Amino acid sequence: MTMDVIVSLCKRRGFIFQSSEIYGGTGSCWDYGPLGVELKNNVKRVWWRDNVHLRPDLVGLDASILMHPTVWKASGHVDHFTDPMVDCKACQRRFRADQLDEQPWTHYCPATKGNKFEVPAGEPCRHCGARRTLCPECGKGELTPPRQFNLMFKTFMGPVEEDAAVTYLRPETAQGIFVNFDNVLQSMRLKLPFGIAQIGKAFRNEITPGNFIFRTREFEQMEIEFFVNPNDTIDGRPADEVWHDRWIEARFAWYQRYGLRRENLRHREHEKSELAHYAKRTADIEYKFPMGWSELEGIANRTDFDLKQHAQWSGKSLTFFDEERKAHVVPYVIEPSAGADRSVLAFLVDAYREEEVRGEKRALLRLHRDLAPLKIAVLPLLKKRSEIVATAHELRGTLARHWVSVYDDTAAIGRLYRRQDEVGTPYCVTVDVQTVGDADKGEAGDRRVTIRERDSMDQIRVPIGELVPVFRELFDGAPWSGVAARYPAAKG
Ligand code: GAP
Repeated sequence: MTMDVIVSLCKRRGFIFQSSEIYGGTGSCWDYGPLGVELKNNVKRVWWRDNVHLRPDLVGLDASILMHPTVWKASGHVDHFTDPMVDCKACQRRFRADQLDEQPWTHYCPATKGNKFEVPAGEPCRHCGARRTLCPECGKGELTPPRQFNLMFKTFMGPVEEDAAVTYLRPETAQGIFVNFDNVLQSMRLKLPFGIAQIGKAFRNEITPGNFIFRTREFEQMEIEFFVNPNDTIDGRPADEVWHDRWIEARFAWYQRYGLRRENLRHREHEKSELAHYAKRTADIEYKFPMGWSELEGIANRTDFDLKQHAQWSGKSLTFFDEERKAHVVPYVIEPSAGADRSVLAFLVDAYREEEVRGEKRALLRLHRDLAPLKIAVLPLLKKRSEIVATAHELRGTLARHWVSVYDDTAAIGRLYRRQDEVGTPYCVTVDVQTVGDADKGEAGDRRVTIRERDSMDQIRVPIGELVPVFRELFDGAPWSGVAARYPAAKG
């Protein structure tokens, strides 16, 4: 499956649009449409629920995007948050120097009278054996030596555009947590180990954004800073190292709980040479995106670097008093840092299936029910019958008090089902003649409706009065087969 399939589905069905598209788009920012915002909110909601609400050792925070400029000096971002950049002297395109060999390159081959070839990433030309030395894009220009390019977006705080007013849009949410460490510790009377979680926007002036919502200049992070006493040991091992392993395992399990297949996830340890300036160890969770294995989440051991830096630059003590040892300690930090947008992309890619049903193609998103943007679609079998339509509208209203529910009568029932499959709606409810009866013929309806399940396409007949309890069971996690076994099957 290619990224184009997902990009096209996202645009066609209202998940994700190119930002400022009517002006030609930006290529580095994306807008979430009506279904996209539901999906992304659901990803953030389950992350928050599973970490902040269900764990006894985590609390939440929502810090501001604009912070005191010294934060970024203390954190090291002003000096170190850079990527090496090169320019093509001919076409003026810019590239990240460290990613040049990861992209295919254009080559005018001397062994074939200068014919133009697209050579795969990292490979030599199979005609002349040459390796890329010129611009990968135009194949003609020399590249400048690498220069360090700071990825932070600069802006001005206040009405005066002068150097003293310069600050930055935060490039990570983490620093908002570090500078609030003492506020949270004191106000919530916490004991180590504990974590502070935050979801919010971050901004990076990426040299080469791309691959849809994978790398953008404005994105959302879901970050946890988990503070550990570095003097503690667990089973003879330093507590920070044990907690690092525990978080790696917990985060792998989390992605799988919401549907990512294990074979599409892998663990990658950072080499010493690629560790960020603050990290003792970092492990990435990588996902097999359509463009290849790439980082979905990073889980770093940031040691006491950030708290010590902020204590030094602010002059405020950022420590925890260890009652047992009667000493102040600067906690170590384990940081599981996930991208909300990358998670959305991974969940979409993993959920997308194409199946053949009775000789026709069925495209569907097998999204976990907690993630699906629409939970229930209520569909009238005949839109000309006013009792059917009125009952369907009424049911949608009742169900919408509990779950995101929509009404649709813009096509025949088969097509309506396909449309809901394609956006991942787990259940459809169909109101038909049997439900409402026929007053002209003196026939009473059975007040039952059909529930159709997306993945199996099974259909059951359920009394209207039991719909809410049945859906409550299903959305609480009961397997469809168990619920379906209690009701008669409906004819497909
Ligand atoms: N606080 C640590 C930190 O920011 P990172 O590995 O640079 O670490 C963490 O970023 C996560 O944020 C990444 O794994 C990715 O999911 C997401 N992310 C980073 N840069 C991104 C970008 N330009 N576009 C979309 N998501 C991005």
